[in-house]
Amino acid sequence: MNFQTERLGPHMAAAVSGIDLNRLPDAPTQAALTRVLHDNLVLCIRGQALAPVPFRDAMAQFGVPVLRKQLAQTPECAEVNIISSEDRDVLGDGKRLVNGANWHTDDSFMREPCSLTMLYGVVVPSVGGDTQFTNMYAAYADLSSEMKARIDGMQVIHKYSSSRKLSRISTRPAAEMAAMPEATHPLVRTHPETGRKSLYLNPNRMEQVVGLDRAESDRLLDMLIAHATQPRYEYRHSWRQGDIVIWDNRCTMHKANADYPDGERRLMHRVIVAGTAPY
Ligand code: SIN
Repeated sequence: MNFQTERLGPHMAAAVSGIDLNRLPDAPTQAALTRVLHDNLVLCIRGQALAPVPFRDAMAQFGVPVLRKQLAQTPECAEVNIISSEDRDVLGDGKRLVNGANWHTDDSFMREPCSLTMLYGVVVPSVGGDTQFTNMYAAYADLSSEMKARIDGMQVIHKYSSSRKLSRISTRPAAEMAAMPEATHPLVRTHPETGRKSLYLNPNRMEQVVGLDRAESDRLLDMLIAHATQPRYEYRHSWRQGDIVIWDNRCTMHKANADYPDGERRLMHRVIVAGTAPY
């Protein structure tokens, strides 16, 4: 299967076209798509029209899809979550909820966070609703050698409902919250497939650096977040209907924008695939 590739941002993100994922790619094509993703961190596959089951099946070529019940699931396929302009905090105040409105990487409160996230633009607004990405390889590479020596080997506690969180998160049943995992992860991680080092931050889930007092931990995390979210590390994806955007949570952070006109709809289907414990 042949496809065309176009670079999207100056240092990350590529789009491919000429593929219809209703037919699963053959092995060399799939390997080529995975290579484009590893080289570019964010891969957009243009022009798709996929029902939930074929979407899940196509994404399963990149990894093993996992269930997440914190987001609504499509009736046709439980591994396909729904992110929508109609999302509300139904168990809480009932108000509108914008999932992922602040910088984050998916799932870092889990011991084995998902490796990739795939978002499929089923309905996209006429303007706005972009997703922003930041390149955590580049953010790490640009740190001074003194800072690298200081933070290499540091561990950070991540929690679902961290006391540092910036985003409103959906209210979950008490039993689910009590069972919600937390995890300790390295502040600098090595990508298991590319071997490259990146900063591993999640402003929404990080609680504290192990071994630092709270004030010192907050100072360090705030400084690293400010560094990693500078515009020079960013790619901003402006959605076209039918885009599937796949990103690597091991070397990027991302953020949603709810800045589209009132009354316009934005409907995304999401699949995430399993990862391993960061090291
Ligand atoms: C997310 O953070 O997973 C959602 C991103 C988006 O809706 O743009």
